[in-house]
Amino acid sequence: MSASDPRSILTAALDGGAPLDLAKVGGHLDAKRLGTKFHYFAEIGSTNTHARELAENGAAEGEVVVAESQSAGRGRLGRRWESPPLANLYFSVILRPKLAPAQAPQITLMAAVALAEAIDWFIPQRPVIKWPNDILVNGKKLAGILAEAACIAGRVEHVILGIGVNVNCPVDAMPQELRQRATSLFDVTRIHMDREFVLRRLIQDLDRCYGDLEQFGFEAIAPRWEAHFGLRGKRVRVELLDQVLIGRARGMSRDGALLVEDDDGILQRVFAGDVIPLET
Ligand code: BTN
Repeated sequence: MSASDPRSILTAALDGGAPLDLAKVGGHLDAKRLGTKFHYFAEIGSTNTHARELAENGAAEGEVVVAESQSAGRGRLGRRWESPPLANLYFSVILRPKLAPAQAPQITLMAAVALAEAIDWFIPQRPVIKWPNDILVNGKKLAGILAEAACIAGRVEHVILGIGVNVNCPVDAMPQELRQRATSLFDVTRIHMDREFVLRRLIQDLDRCYGDLEQFGFEAIAPRWEAHFGLRGKRVRVELLDQVLIGRARGMSRDGALLVEDDDGILQRVFAGDVIPLET
């Protein structure tokens, strides 16, 4: 690692950031299905890729791949997810939900609720969901979700639920291009967080929300998602695959689409795209 590598600043800033002790996570976990087994890596390409390989080879629901750093961390829309060592959380959970492929986006929305509810516990500010899967605090991204589903014969075979949370990374140690857009629990609170405690809380909240989704259906998730939705009534620019939509965000449909009222007053349903708020 050279002195100009942002990770060297980060390592210095963290001064003693210790590796995760997963015995402290699994030993006290209050979860029914998630966190049954942890696969730990000091460094990996992407926890999602490894979890997918495990799932394809029969790994059980609830197994978790966690890494201290990722050399090829992936975000939505083919973006890179910065994954410096010993500061943040990068993990992927194997799920085997009883859902039809068309319902698979509910997993992302469920996870956004779980993350928002977990992060709410750590900070005084209210975390906000930016459709579909960004968790923002003070308008800056604190966590992201990458859910990748595999479907066979008209049913979901597994979903790899990948989560990245900026925990102890000071904003000054982030790459220059992220400093205006990203934040961390440390940045918000000035408190160096116990990553084991944060990971345990995240897995427990995911387990609870996943259980709610299975037992009560998406009706149990949608109002909680709406309660954390930060764009309602705001003008947004939505970058779709081949066009741009500008309008006012109105909420989410029961099947997880973002509802945007365009300038002709027509309610458009967006299933995939990048949403950029045009006002705060
Ligand atoms: C996004 O906001 O674009 C999604 C980011 C998801 C990042 C996490 S980190 C753990 C898991 N492994 C990956 O390669 N990506 C996800």
